[in-house]
Amino acid sequence: PDGTCDLLTQSECEAQSGHYGGDNSTCEQQVCLEPYVDWLPVPPIAAPVQGRAGGVATYEIPMREFRQKLHRDLPPTTLWGYGGQYPGPTIEATRNQPVRVRWINDLRDAATGVPRTDHYFDVDTHIHGPDMLGKTPRTVVHLHGGHVPPDADGYPESTFVFGGSRLYQYPNSQLAATLWYHDHALGITRYNVMMGLAGFYLIRDRSEQALQLPSGSYEIPLLIQDRSFHPDGSLSYPAQWTPMFFGDKVLVNGKVWPKLLVDRGKYRFRVLNGSNHRIFTLTLSDHRAFQVIGTDGGLLPSPAPVTELTLGPAERADVVVDFQGDAPGTEVLLKDTLASGQVDASDPAMSRIMKFVVSGNPGWTAPVPASLTQVARIPESQATKTRTFELRFDQSLQKFRFGDFGWDEMTEFPALGTTEIWQFANETSEAHPIHIHLVHFQVLDRSSFQVVDGKVVPGSDRRPPDPDEAGWKDTANVKPHELLRVIMRFGPDGYLGDFVFHFHILEHEDNDMMRQFTVVPAKGPKPSVASARAEP
Ligand code: C2O
Ligand code: CU
Repeated sequence: PDGTCDLLTQSECEAQSGHYGGDNSTCEQQVCLEPYVDWLPVPPIAAPVQGRAGGVATYEIPMREFRQKLHRDLPPTTLWGYGGQYPGPTIEATRNQPVRVRWINDLRDAATGVPRTDHYFDVDTHIHGPDMLGKTPRTVVHLHGGHVPPDADGYPESTFVFGGSRLYQYPNSQLAATLWYHDHALGITRYNVMMGLAGFYLIRDRSEQALQLPSGSYEIPLLIQDRSFHPDGSLSYPAQWTPMFFGDKVLVNGKVWPKLLVDRGKYRFRVLNGSNHRIFTLTLSDHRAFQVIGTDGGLLPSPAPVTELTLGPAERADVVVDFQGDAPGTEVLLKDTLASGQVDASDPAMSRIMKFVVSGNPGWTAPVPASLTQVARIPESQATKTRTFELRFDQSLQKFRFGDFGWDEMTEFPALGTTEIWQFANETSEAHPIHIHLVHFQVLDRSSFQVVDGKVVPGSDRRPPDPDEAGWKDTANVKPHELLRVIMRFGPDGYLGDFVFHFHILEHEDNDMMRQFTVVPAKGPKPSVASARAEP
């Protein structure tokens, strides 16, 4: 039953062709862990080598291999992490106060200290990237949601190995928002993020601070990721490329199914779905409402009360949950409704995420303002171009594609200062979150569609975004057989050069479901494909 350990008897274990190792040991095949025994860790704030955390600052952040306990009853897991920890340290930044980070690849075998020349995982060398570069532990860091120049964007081809580093400058000239940084190496991102290469990056500004939202110990980032384990604690991830991966355990901030003691008041949770593939629909066990106050790119105009919230991989939600009316000792579970249909809904363990336990202490009781910010809708009439992308599974290539194009074919050249509509027609039977680098967009609508004479024709059932999605986004889900339309501006305060857009299912992104676009000057000829490359 939910809330207990899935203990297997000897016969049950053997019936699943596992190896029974004695009472209280794990069936070698299924790793049995008790939920809600570990406290939720909160990633530490990154300490700069120069300047001040939260202001203009310079950081040096090495990527390291180490072992860390992810559950009370699980042996330590070999991981890679920024700053030698998982999740990485949270970078605090303020709007318009630039931050520089030197990202360093210091990946050595944790047992021997010898620099890694091969990846920890058995890299599939059949797909683009490793087909040329083999199993080398290449890394490159992308600030997801960052409005940054191309040379600081973590280009998937701009990877570096042990001993290498990159110094990136992030201008932070954007709204206060919940960003995150993660690996983006061509063809091996799924392994690198699975190893633990992810962390939060929070941008704050004065107008947000004036709202008096829950802060200090009442503001907590929650990084949600699914993982599977071998009984020795090591991560279990397929060596060969597979079109999907779903873990059977859910970690929040690096612990399997943790618990958090909460005071009787409001909490601001910065929720990030950092999974490779899994979509979560979050709900609380007593089905109480919570307020969504922000999306990927900043605050919503006003709080949107919801009882369920779907987050695809890489999507963030800024939410406020109120425990003020709860008696001490009350337990509230954060669960996945499993509405995505991706994992076995008949197994109650699959719905677990974490548990809140209410303490006797008073907490943050100030109200959340009814008006948070202004999000001016971009009028459709401003768009000078509509680009259409069809998502398909290519049977002959055995991979997902945007129409007929993959990573190497560049066809999209938006001009600086213009407004465009991009529409994504999902012809696959799986939901796909689209992510566009550089910009934040607004969701215009979703609808059914038909392809008539090779052209995508929207259905008449256009639905505007729900209030909890009516803000600035950089990642948005496209359901199977759905057409998503988004609108965005390339400047005027934009950057020229090459950027990336892709579906944030890491297994698909690694295997060519990722493309490039180039922002070109407003007038003048389009650059040739070769010269459009910012980096080799
Ligand atoms: Cu979250 Cu292109 O990345
Ligand atoms: Cu895909």
